[in-house]
Amino acid sequence: MPAARVLVLFAHPAFQKSRIHRQLAAAARAIEGVTFHDLYEAYPDFQIDVAREQERLLAHEVIVFQHPFYWYSCPALLKEWLDLVLELGFAYGPEGTRLNGKALLAAITTGGGAHAYAPEGHNRFTMAELLRPFEQTAALCGLAWLPPFVVHGTVHLLDPAEIARHAAEYARHLTALRDGRTPPART
Ligand SMILES: Cc1cc2nc3c(=O)[nH]c(=O)nc-3n(C[C@H](O)[C@H](O)[C@H](O)COP(=O)(O)O)c2cc1C
Repeated sequence: MPAARVLVLFAHPAFQKSRIHRQLAAAARAIEGVTFHDLYEAYPDFQIDVAREQERLLAHEVIVFQHPFYWYSCPALLKEWLDLVLELGFAYGPEGTRLNGKALLAAITTGGGAHAYAPEGHNRFTMAELLRPFEQTAALCGLAWLPPFVVHGTVHLLDPAEIARHAAEYARHLTALRDGRTPPART
């Protein structure tokens, strides 16, 4: 993997109440060569500047969707962003090859624990299964789907040191992608 310009598209509608993303976002922002773009800060009225967003995509090779898991999906503004920015003729369709060869990373936190995301668990499906719409969106747009970075069990994640450890792992993950290395295995 060659070195890459990394774009983090961050979507959290209640950032002022966030415990986990507050630290993950701070870790991402601090990395040189990583562009951190807070969608709810940029577009509180949901009026997305599509041309500007497309330009930003073209200027990066690794795209990261960083958000809390909301109803087994992403918060509404990121869905709006997908609907408007990934246009026919730009992102998909016969002429829509502008994103080909880039890569997509999902960086997600879930309230439910890892054990809940299993056939016998509370949420019945694995994260890999629930993230299929994002994986297929990437495929349709010619983006490589990277192994997701997931922090499970945020409801019970109360120890600030533990949250800081996840943030440090996230920073290592993004730094590896920036430098064209395979991210280290999660502990
Ligand atoms: C509207 C809403 C929907 C949510 N849906 C899910 C869900 O589908 N699965 C899950 O595990 N947690 C769900 N959660 C919990 C959030 O994922 C959790 O609060 C978040 O990851 C915590 O991160 P933060 O401290 O940065 O806010 C939901 C929370 C809200 C407010």
